[in-house]
Amino acid sequence: MNKKNVILIGFMGCGKTTVGRELAKNINFRFIDTDYMIQKEESKSIEKIFDTFGEQYFRKIEKNVCYRVSNFKNCVISTGGGIIKSEENMINLKKTGTIIYLRATPQKIYKNLKYDNKRPLLKNKDKIKIICDLLNERSYLYEKYADIIVDVDDNSPFVLAKIIKNNIKSIL
Ligand code: S3P
Repeated sequence: MNKKNVILIGFMGCGKTTVGRELAKNINFRFIDTDYMIQKEESKSIEKIFDTFGEQYFRKIEKNVCYRVSNFKNCVISTGGGIIKSEENMINLKKTGTIIYLRATPQKIYKNLKYDNKRPLLKNKDKIKIICDLLNERSYLYEKYADIIVDVDDNSPFVLAKIIKNNIKSIL
């Protein structure tokens, strides 16, 4: 199988979508966002899906979308922060692409999401606490599945896209 996708994983608010769009433009790949696909498919925002059907339902749709995007080629695929919770998702993604973990500190994530109210897992909660707790739970998974880890805190999306491009030259 042709391993020719670039898959961005990382915590909410680490910049997967912005960096992904920039990278796709730079390397002439199509940009895909799994959350966007889920919303289109359900004709509802992520928030509404969580509110109406709950997280488990969302994860089911996410798994389905993940399976489908694994068959795409020459795409930069930005994924939801919880995609790594399913080993099946990651096995599918790994088969078809290079996985890049955009690693951000809790401080950076908090700064990016301070005023956000679109993330159901953080809404009306003690944001910094949830960010730290979830990062504690998930960091090792992001690192375990990553082919390449890129620290995002001190770089703009523009620079990050360049760094990634330089790192994936062998697959382009
Ligand atoms: C989630 C991250 C979100 C979205 C959903 C759940 C998570 O995507 O998929 O709210 O579990 O971390 P972003 O990482 O794009 O915010």
